[in-house]
Amino acid sequence: MAVILVGFMGAGKTTVGRELARKMQCTHRDLDDLIVEAAGQSIPEIFAARGDAGFRQLEHDTLVKALDDIEILSTGGGTPMQPANFDLLKAKKTPVVLLEANADTILKRIGRDANRPLVQELGTDGLVALQQKRDPRYHELADLVITTDQLLPAQIATQIMTWL
Ligand code: S3P
Repeated sequence: MAVILVGFMGAGKTTVGRELARKMQCTHRDLDDLIVEAAGQSIPEIFAARGDAGFRQLEHDTLVKALDDIEILSTGGGTPMQPANFDLLKAKKTPVVLLEANADTILKRIGRDANRPLVQELGTDGLVALQQKRDPRYHELADLVITTDQLLPAQIATQIMTWL
């Protein structure tokens, strides 16, 4: 059984993906990690060297390869925003789980994260605006939506397994 996790930065996609894989005894891939491996550079280095467009191209190419053979895949917060990626995720018959968190939780989790270039670039107001802008797109993809603010990763993973 495969699952694709989507949602904004800080929603818990990576942590929950790992936990879910542990419980289901299957493999987990994080798209950002695959991008870092492919580029041989960290996420901030990729943004600095190639810009947003360069990162998005790499993200798309990496997604195409990853979708070939996945069990659990945690995407990046911006992944579904590129129409080509959205179409790929929609066309795939794999269930998509949206993890949500309110803006306060998101800011608490990632507000100072130096590994997320958009956090530095946009600041608090910009991040909240971006989350609102992206939200409808995430919902269009989602087969299951989980609000994560009050839940532990293990509880979220259990909810997903119960639903599957
Ligand atoms: C991004 C989210 C990040 C990473 C990159 C861009 C975005 O992934 O792909 O910094 O556009 O929201 P996480 O959602 O895992 O933080």
